[in-house]
Amino acid sequence: MAEEYRDLVYQTVGMPAPDGADVQLTRIIGSPELNMIDPFLLLDVFETDEPQDYIGGFPSHPHRGFETVTYLLAGQMRHKDSTGNEGVIVPGGVQWMTAGRGIVHSEMPEQVDGLMKGFQLWVNLPASEKMTEPGYQEFPPHVIENEELPGGGFIHVIAGKTNQGTVGPVKNAHTQPLFFDVTLKSDQIFEQAIPATHSSFIYMIENDLTVSEKKSNLKQSELGILRGEGDVMVKAGDTGARFLLVAAKSLDEPVARGGPFVMNTREEVMQAFHDYQDGKF
Ligand code: CO
Repeated sequence: MAEEYRDLVYQTVGMPAPDGADVQLTRIIGSPELNMIDPFLLLDVFETDEPQDYIGGFPSHPHRGFETVTYLLAGQMRHKDSTGNEGVIVPGGVQWMTAGRGIVHSEMPEQVDGLMKGFQLWVNLPASEKMTEPGYQEFPPHVIENEELPGGGFIHVIAGKTNQGTVGPVKNAHTQPLFFDVTLKSDQIFEQAIPATHSSFIYMIENDLTVSEKKSNLKQSELGILRGEGDVMVKAGDTGARFLLVAAKSLDEPVARGGPFVMNTREEVMQAFHDYQDGKF
């Protein structure tokens, strides 16, 4: 048992934000309301069964200086990038791309109708790794373990290590992330250790939870920032719960944003624009 659990300190449902080619998103991190949760720069949630809200997809665009994570709950997306990687992300599958010094990629729907639901998360890179070689990890759902929990329910373990010892396939030394998709039964209690160096948040996919001994309530479609250095302890509501639990090491470095580039200084962002225009990506 942890001596002290992380408390829920902030809740938000984000704000509507069109991006890419008229894709309708909800921006939860990276908005005027919530700039970042170091090292998380952006979290977009998309959920729509209206093809006109997603069919345009995200045509070719560059990134430098951070990592992009795409995780789908419904639908299919085809991605391609300038290092020659290409694949289709399906529900329960993840793509974790390290843009490093520069990558150009596209993400386009691999469907013309039906539901599209998922997440895009941006994770910052430390200054020393911003110009690293671009890289990419992709895992289909069947290679991501569903760890059964003692009281029922399970964790889809994408990154990081569970309390029972399951380790997710995504490997990342930069910010040592934990990325779990957790499903709990009604009134089930769930605990997870998180390093004291790590920021953490929960996004509620379905139903609701109470957090820590304070029993703060987190509802469907809300993001909750957790604060403190202890473990996470939550309890599902009476209809169960499904949520993302995400954590990573805070970098505590200056952040300079310029559209698709996130560096430490304004000059480095300008350099990224020049390098991209000069075809150096
Ligand atoms: Co992108």
